[in-house]
Amino acid sequence: MRYAWLPCLKSPVPETLKRPLSVADHEARQVADGVCFAVDRDMGEGYKLEKAGDGYRITGGETGVLYGTYALVRALAAGDPLPEGVQKPFYPLRMIDCWDNMDGTVERGYAGRSLWFEGGEFRYDPARIRQLGRMLASVGINALCVNNVNVHAPAQQLIGWLLPDLAAFADILRPFGVRLMVSVDFSMPLQCGLDTADPLDSRVQAWWNARADAVYAAVPDLAGFLVKADSEHRPGPNAYGRDHAQGANMLARALKPHGGVLVWRAFVYNCMQDWRDHSIDRPCAAYNAYMPLDGRFDENVILQIKNGPYDFQVREPASPLFFGLRNTRTAIEYQLAQEYTGHQIDLYAMPPMWREVTDCIGKEAVQAIAAVSNLGRDENWFGHPFAALNLFAFGLFAWDPDSAPAALIGSWAKLTYALPADQEKTLADMLLGSRAVYEKYTSPLGLCWMVQPGLHYGPNPYGYEFDAWGTYNRADRNGVGIDRTAAGTGYACQYPKELADAYGDPARCPENLLLFFHRLPYTYRMKDGRTLIQRIYDDHFEGCEAAEAMRRDLQGLALPEPDRAEALERMDKQARNARNWRDVINTFFHRFSGIDDEKGRVIYD
Ligand code: GCU
Repeated sequence: MRYAWLPCLKSPVPETLKRPLSVADHEARQVADGVCFAVDRDMGEGYKLEKAGDGYRITGGETGVLYGTYALVRALAAGDPLPEGVQKPFYPLRMIDCWDNMDGTVERGYAGRSLWFEGGEFRYDPARIRQLGRMLASVGINALCVNNVNVHAPAQQLIGWLLPDLAAFADILRPFGVRLMVSVDFSMPLQCGLDTADPLDSRVQAWWNARADAVYAAVPDLAGFLVKADSEHRPGPNAYGRDHAQGANMLARALKPHGGVLVWRAFVYNCMQDWRDHSIDRPCAAYNAYMPLDGRFDENVILQIKNGPYDFQVREPASPLFFGLRNTRTAIEYQLAQEYTGHQIDLYAMPPMWREVTDCIGKEAVQAIAAVSNLGRDENWFGHPFAALNLFAFGLFAWDPDSAPAALIGSWAKLTYALPADQEKTLADMLLGSRAVYEKYTSPLGLCWMVQPGLHYGPNPYGYEFDAWGTYNRADRNGVGIDRTAAGTGYACQYPKELADAYGDPARCPENLLLFFHRLPYTYRMKDGRTLIQRIYDDHFEGCEAAEAMRRDLQGLALPEPDRAEALERMDKQARNARNWRDVINTFFHRFSGIDDEKGRVIYD
């Protein structure tokens, strides 16, 4: 078993560690002499680090001293100064959502099978789960949702006869300050003898109250329930003519006496759309559904909203709900699993994207932060050894959303590999630029969805064009993109005026979102004077060349084995993928536009 970062922590975590303080003590002993702890319960997750004689003093709440210890470990290992003053997390809930199924598969998992489910039950190596707890705690992640938001049987039984197993699993992660969450099926009362799951039926409320009592008797510190309802065929309150506030509040009331939160996903849209019907525009859906409900959710409901209005695409604008909702507690949901961003084969470091979103919406726009996990049972946990960066950086970003992407990436590279300084910089630069490279050779200028249907890796520009998912680019011989301005679907008008005006005007719209908001002819002039079609060709040639350059850079890095071999093998696949994207996309647009590349490069027809 390999440990993804903090390689300085060599000795395994002992079998029985009851409280965060004892974990902290164990970790501290490995990195520095003379560390002493002062527990101040009022500090909660906060901590303060100070020099004390020849050693260090860590003051903090019970979990705070743990986070303080890892911060000390990081600072000492990286040779950084100690953070000054009291450190506190910005978001109180910092969660990873694991899409693990009980048959051992992971939905959109690219790092092997589930770390804790197999054959319809909990089956895991406790030592590895302790390592997981350590990994999460070391970057401040404090909640883990154990099962897929699509709750397939027997996962419903996580809050039924599997409760003792859930409790045993919670016991392992508790010393690391990690609380569990469970995805539940809104229709579960129907499987348990009731003839309805109507949230306004008192028998349904009573059923969920009793369930919650049983769950909290087994796992008293459960963080709460996560629900995907009325979304992609999942059951929900709409079946009974009830809205999502009524559905969410009913569950929230069952959790409230136990201090639990109800995380309700805002991923609703019509997934049975007719592509011929231009009046429906999928990105409009969530805002239309949830704005009328603002202020109607109970105080222990958190509405979890994907970062963009589509579905974790390479480039989307931030969801307009982050600007619109004023009286609802919200969480932003990212996807560390690289579903649309390279399957943990192609490099795609996410901190620049998170930072852009935060800069756009403001860090106070949400009260919690969650991300779909990229973990799995592979020996290196992440499929690609560098994909570890995204989990590491997510934890630290959730703690401090002002973190600079370059600092997060540099810190991961330093803590993970003891490379000479110039090589460390090459690796960090490669990762920092990796999103831009991926974006260039894949779907152009915010267009989205030009992927292989179902798989979501590799190009297929018309793969989702005549499908039911609302995922169209409407490319033809005249142009490409969808008009989402006031004159079009009106999506741009869901933003505050200043942003709506900018998005609505092709001259002021950020160019990387141009085709998200506008339908334009191939001869449209970009700001630098190039035509739209030329920009598409150039991006694809440049992206592909950049992937080749990354491969050369990678070859020059003295990474330890097996990371080096694994990274090189995946980089070969990435280079092939980039060539494939370049040629398929360029050919697609060349065939439609009939316009040749000004630079005379090869486009295969
Ligand atoms: C995407 C993804 C699904 C997932 C869904 C969700 O559509 O492809 O696998 O279930 O998102 O977030 O619920």
